[in-house]
Amino acid sequence: RDLGIVAVGFSGGQCKPGVDAAPSALIESGLLTQLREELGYRLHGDDEVHLYTDLVPKEDPPHRNMKNPRAVSNVTKRIAEQVHSHAKEGRLVLTLGGDHSIAIGTIAGSAKAIKERLGREIAVIWVDAHADINTPETSGSGNIHGMPVSFLTGLASEDKEEFFGWLKPDHLLSVKKLVYIGLRDVDPGEKRILRENGIKAFSMHDIDKHGIGRVMEMALGHIGNDTPIHLSFDVDALDPMWAPSTGTPVRGGLTLREGDFICECVHETGSLVAVDLVEVNPTLAAPNDVGAHETVRAGCSLVRCALGESLL
Ligand code: ARG
Ligand code: MN
Ligand code: MN
Ligand code: MN
Repeated sequence: RDLGIVAVGFSGGQCKPGVDAAPSALIESGLLTQLREELGYRLHGDDEVHLYTDLVPKEDPPHRNMKNPRAVSNVTKRIAEQVHSHAKEGRLVLTLGGDHSIAIGTIAGSAKAIKERLGREIAVIWVDAHADINTPETSGSGNIHGMPVSFLTGLASEDKEEFFGWLKPDHLLSVKKLVYIGLRDVDPGEKRILRENGIKAFSMHDIDKHGIGRVMEMALGHIGNDTPIHLSFDVDALDPMWAPSTGTPVRGGLTLREGDFICECVHETGSLVAVDLVEVNPTLAAPNDVGAHETVRAGCSLVRCALGESLL
């Protein structure tokens, strides 16, 4: 089957440099070769890690408390076009981030393409320690990687093109079609947003209580059969034991096998249309530390599982 690749070296949704180096690190460790040779995908794309430097303005002062708002808006708009162009051809789309702000582009692009091609709304499975659903007003950090879901669901919006005004109804996601897995560091304002909008969320507590097998049954049950699924996987959903090289690590997370299992279950539905892997930051490790290598390896494993690597 055909796979569109979008490699996004962008870090402007948060303040730590290095997350832009992830796509090259993942590719150098052999990910794309494995997808081609072991999983049998036909790969499409421009074989380029996009840095989008032409879309990052010299001056980009905060707007509504958002940091780098014009850069993130411009870059995610471009990513939406890239993902859309693959998805409208019926390709599964793999985006290698970058920080999680890039999901504004990836999800907008797949929502629009699936609407046009199949007349369907997509569902999103968001695997993360964080909910990333702050509005500019509830965010304490001003980092847009903590806000993508609020823009994608229309809970936050702006008319001005330069501040995500390019997001149109066809790009948006229904709060009913969103499921979180792995949450354990949710800000007070975000908890209120989740509650008030009745958003389905499985925290680490739920995973401890029911086990990951039952949680996946419930998560996929909520989405319903035969709904196109966009999987957005933040590597910080994994416990720092497995993925230490990430900007906002939170202890008490998923094991690598639980992460892989989530991806395998999503693959098994046969409804996967897009996958994002974000927040791998190979530079956040002490010199000679194995952490960066381990994190890249974990990221490759998650992607292979989502794309159908089976154990037997
Ligand atoms: N909730 C915090 C914030 O809004 C942390 C967000 C972390 N997001 C991420 N994609 N790692 O700043
Ligand atoms: Mn996170
Ligand atoms: Mn926090
Ligand atoms: Mn995230």
